[in-house]
Amino acid sequence: MEIVNGFENSSVVRAVELLNNGDVVAFPTETVYGLGADALNPYAVAKIFEAKNRPHFDPLIVHVGRKEWLHDYAEDVPQDALKLIDAFWPGPLTLILQKKMCIPDIVTAGLSTVAIRMPSHAVALELIEAFQKPIAAPSANPFAYMSPTKVTHVARMLKGKIPMALDGGDSVFGIESTIISFQSHGVFIHRHGAISEEELSEYVNIVHDIKTDSVYRSPGELPYHYAPMKPLKIVHNVDEVKIANSSFLAFRQPVTLPISRYLKVLSKTGDLKEAAANFFSDLIELDREDIDIIYAERVPETGIGKAIMERLKKASKKGAK
Ligand code: TXA
Ligand code: MG
Repeated sequence: MEIVNGFENSSVVRAVELLNNGDVVAFPTETVYGLGADALNPYAVAKIFEAKNRPHFDPLIVHVGRKEWLHDYAEDVPQDALKLIDAFWPGPLTLILQKKMCIPDIVTAGLSTVAIRMPSHAVALELIEAFQKPIAAPSANPFAYMSPTKVTHVARMLKGKIPMALDGGDSVFGIESTIISFQSHGVFIHRHGAISEEELSEYVNIVHDIKTDSVYRSPGELPYHYAPMKPLKIVHNVDEVKIANSSFLAFRQPVTLPISRYLKVLSKTGDLKEAAANFFSDLIELDREDIDIIYAERVPETGIGKAIMERLKKASKKGAK
């Protein structure tokens, strides 16, 4: 795989050539790195599933280059959606809406809805604008593994599987987009992510149940998603660390050091945004060490902390798969 500087125009031109050829390209977004293909070409999209070893029942997010494009690919866009697009696009908010015919079934796993977002990363926007078509992209990791937040992660994880990755630096949020759908009684959060529930609730009513059963309920909600290779246990603090041949992923700087061989601190000062930005990259590093178990300290479930905990809980369930 070739890694090229995404901020150089010639790199974007070459990436667009690949996309036009029906190939896949990894590219940076503000959340995590994505593995993109022409969203309107089912053969190209099939290559994403192949490279990731992703089951075909798991639908992809369509990335658009302008807010107006939404109406080319989605129907029946509710007022709440327009309000949220105004507030949060470009940015890490994904909307599930009724799809238009032009979106191939492989993108949506045969659902009548499509997940759409407009990313804010300059390189992602350049790429989509230059391509002039939407790009379907999941996170650029093998299925069920952790999402890459650096181009070096992509290179390691998808080595030999894709032709090119655009380097756009470290992902600023470090956690995937928030995924929502629109119910008659308000907005339902399918996946907690970079935009917090608190932020959304400034604009819309948040509901905690889905009344219709026509909506696909559990995107990526396979219980063992986002998992490291090593077993992971969530703990309240260092005192619960019992195995020395372990890694400890601390939320903030611990007062007493754990008996673990390796320690990563998500945010010395306990800042949730900083913790989110470091979350996957720290976990990916700890997972590479020759240890028996990763202990992860709980983080407060407010703001983006909810998204971190959602991922930790899934990672800890891997053994239950
Ligand atoms: O931040 C992000 O969202 C990143 C960047 C690359 O944009 N993308 C990402 O994609 O996290 P992925 O494929 O790893 O996660 C997308 C999730 C999947 O769990 C999928 O099930 C859900 O979105 N999804 C896609 N289309 C859906 C639909 N029509 N209804 C419900 N869930 C959907
Ligand atoms: Mg993913």
